[in-house]
Amino acid sequence: MSLGLDNCSGRRHRPATRVGKQVDVQYTLPVVQETRLDTARIQAARRVIDPIFLDTPLYRCEALEPDLGCTVSIKLETANPVRSFKARGTEVVASLLADSDSRAVVCASAGNLGQALAWSGRGRGLDVTVVASRFAPAAKLDRIRALDASLELVDGDFDTARERAAALARYHGIRLVEDSLDIETCEGAATIGLELADTVPPFDTILIALGGGALATGVGHVIKAQAPEVEVICIQPLGAPAMTLSWRERRVVTTNSTNTIADGVAGRRPIPAVLDDLLLVADDAVLVQETSIIAGMRMLLDHAGLVVEPSAALGIAAILEDRERFAGRHVVTVVCGSNIDVDAYHGWIGAAPHRTKMTGAQNQTTETRTTA
Ligand SMILES: Cc1ncc(COP(=O)(O)O)c(C=O)c1O
Repeated sequence: MSLGLDNCSGRRHRPATRVGKQVDVQYTLPVVQETRLDTARIQAARRVIDPIFLDTPLYRCEALEPDLGCTVSIKLETANPVRSFKARGTEVVASLLADSDSRAVVCASAGNLGQALAWSGRGRGLDVTVVASRFAPAAKLDRIRALDASLELVDGDFDTARERAAALARYHGIRLVEDSLDIETCEGAATIGLELADTVPPFDTILIALGGGALATGVGHVIKAQAPEVEVICIQPLGAPAMTLSWRERRVVTTNSTNTIADGVAGRRPIPAVLDDLLLVADDAVLVQETSIIAGMRMLLDHAGLVVEPSAALGIAAILEDRERFAGRHVVTVVCGSNIDVDAYHGWIGAAPHRTKMTGAQNQTTETRTTA
């Protein structure tokens, strides 16, 4: 790891280092710390991403505010053909591949990256293979197939799929897209940051779901470069904490298993280079309970009219678990995906609409289901 300038693992409200700025280290020469991302390339990415994925709605959602106790704005990344932000990155990957001799590409996916790569590849005549866990939501797997990609299912989880995708790429000599490691996936996601950084009026905090880290490092890079006073907070489920624990300990921490309904962020093995970037741009990384994720999904349905997948409710869950922290602040949450299995969604949300103010007691008693 190239970092290690201070010793503040696990401390809350740690100010992130400004991207690309000099940092004075006691008794040593100044060290320039930079993420792997490049703002000029992020701006260029906007030119190759299909405009259907760009300039997504950003709006204040006052109906959420009485229950959350702060000003809340939503950056909506679900109203597009793949119902998640992931196509911002796959558009960059696919446009580069379309200009090269190599037409075949393989990726591992929890579901949304694969769907996005299938969409971006289909439009450019690429031969796309996606490797996914057979436990991934059926709706995500069905959409990958419907978009003409070859889908290979593995018996294990997302990290098992990563190993299989790498093996396929080696065997066939084709391009492996590694989400969050491949810079295009981060810089594509970072275009969300460009759209946020221009926002008037400005906001105080941005809440970002954390999986492999493409979204958080991408958006975080732009925010810290252009609006460093904005607090960048990443959120993971308690049942899939590997990247958050790694951020807190400033070294890669792996876990043996995951146990969460938020399938989009359920990884066990953080990528060292991505962690290095995250350490530069994140002010905090927090873990939330499954009950809060479900309460967040229900609030987004009831008060914002949004059907979202669990990973997209992590930001609301974080506010619910610590209203005091956010009181009086203007918080933006990225609603990053809406690919759900309808039956599972109804099981989580329940038949009755949630109209009463959430209390701690209700929070504790909400039923939770977990993925395999
Ligand atoms: C809906 C959703 N939210 C959040 C994430 C996490 O994004 P990242 O892996 O870039 O951290 C993903 C990843 O696929 C996702 O699909």
